[in-house]
Amino acid sequence: MNENQMREQMAELGKSLYERGLAHGSAGNISVKLPDGYLLTPTNSCLGRLDPARISRLDGNGKLLSGDAPSKEAFLHLNMYQERAGSGAVVHLHCLHAVAVSCLDGLNAENVFAPITAYAIMQVGRLALVPYYAPGDMALAEAVRKVAGKHHAVLLANHGPVVAGTSLTSAVYAIEELEQTARLTLLLQGHPTRLLSAAQIADLNRRFPG
Ligand code: 13P
Repeated sequence: MNENQMREQMAELGKSLYERGLAHGSAGNISVKLPDGYLLTPTNSCLGRLDPARISRLDGNGKLLSGDAPSKEAFLHLNMYQERAGSGAVVHLHCLHAVAVSCLDGLNAENVFAPITAYAIMQVGRLALVPYYAPGDMALAEAVRKVAGKHHAVLLANHGPVVAGTSLTSAVYAIEELEQTARLTLLLQGHPTRLLSAAQIADLNRRFPG
């Protein structure tokens, strides 16, 4: 895919997330890796109404080369790429159920979700939790850097999820699965639940590596 096709795809998938209620207002941001830098959604932009021509074009260090001023989470995205060499895209959302889970007390910071479904294991894996920092704070980007080497999916406490994928499509699929798993987690609260066993999880990781 060339750069223009990637810009179009960011707008198309942003609109799809917005129209299905996974993004609202100006919350959330999307980035895609280029051979010599990144495309990132502009700050305060609505994911449902992105103009492909105005998407921020950054160099490899995060410096703005063209387009509107970039998302305040630019360094969070960059840190994710630096720690995960194979990543082609990063998506951050404030989707309802994942944000609700991010506000719960007593979460396991190494693995937020109990193993309830196969797709949660296959697409989200072990979701890390990082402590609360204000949006755009460099401390938030640094907290993400610390866990990104081991986790492609990270939950920002009292804020929302960030997911890296090999492509924008796979990052979007994974964050949608994360939102669905958060919703199921909340639905199942207080209900006796049969979890996948360690052997079943190992089998999924063997069948569907990466
Ligand atoms: P931006 O509008 O700067 O991308 O910030 C939105 C957001 O989701 C902050 O976490």
